[in-house]
Amino acid sequence: MDTTIDRREFVRIGACAGAATALALAVGCSSAGTAKSDESEVETPSFKYGEETGMSKRVLVGYATRTGSTTGVAEAIGRTLGERGYAVDVKPFRDKPSPGGYDAVVVGSAINGGAWLPEAIGWVESNSSVLRDVPTAAYCVHSMNGGADEKQTRKRTAYLDKVRDAVTLAAEGFFLGKGPAADDSSLIARWAFKAFGGTAEGDARDWDKIKAWAEGLEL
Ligand SMILES: Cc1cc2nc3c(=O)[nH]c(=O)nc-3n(C[C@H](O)[C@H](O)[C@H](O)COP(=O)(O)O)c2cc1C
Repeated sequence: MDTTIDRREFVRIGACAGAATALALAVGCSSAGTAKSDESEVETPSFKYGEETGMSKRVLVGYATRTGSTTGVAEAIGRTLGERGYAVDVKPFRDKPSPGGYDAVVVGSAINGGAWLPEAIGWVESNSSVLRDVPTAAYCVHSMNGGADEKQTRKRTAYLDKVRDAVTLAAEGFFLGKGPAADDSSLIARWAFKAFGGTAEGDARDWDKIKAWAEGLEL
């Protein structure tokens, strides 16, 4: 296997490592109770929304989280789809849900190091043959590159590159999650976070935006 990397790749890896370091620094400087770095400590509940009648379409909303904020986003998407008349299961990829029997799938993950969490991209890749036959939408929960300028838009769009390689997406959603907050992280940590493109300040989840996205999904 050729293990050499070109300069662009080196810079890209460096940028991701820098972003992860800034985030780890920022999150690591948070008070112990607000950010759990051990994924086994974070709860990953399942939810059901809407009514299963013979007429209703079944939708699976999958999610992956490290520190918990994506769970609420998945829940909000599921609740909105339930209100639209779909029968919705919200499930964590950690439980390896089967996509069989669903009429549509909405997949999402927290962003760490410039990409989806491994269990989320792993699930999409291993179920791609099923997902190609049903409408599939994807969302990201991130705290950097939330700006409207060309550079941040390009970096944000790239968060879904691997997902697009595996499946054709009917819709894409990018939602700010939780960044370091003024009251629980140091000035240096927040500076480092901003220097690497950090946009979210504290809990930046925009529930109206998330709901509007789910209301507009054509599944
Ligand atoms: C180690 C680490 C790396 C991260 N890397 C990125 C990143 O590359 N880009 C980004 O936009 N956000 C990044 N984030 C921010 C998270 O995506 C954001 O905090 C999100 O809300 C986390 O979702 P979760 O609470 O569901 O895990 C990172 C966070 C951590 C802790």
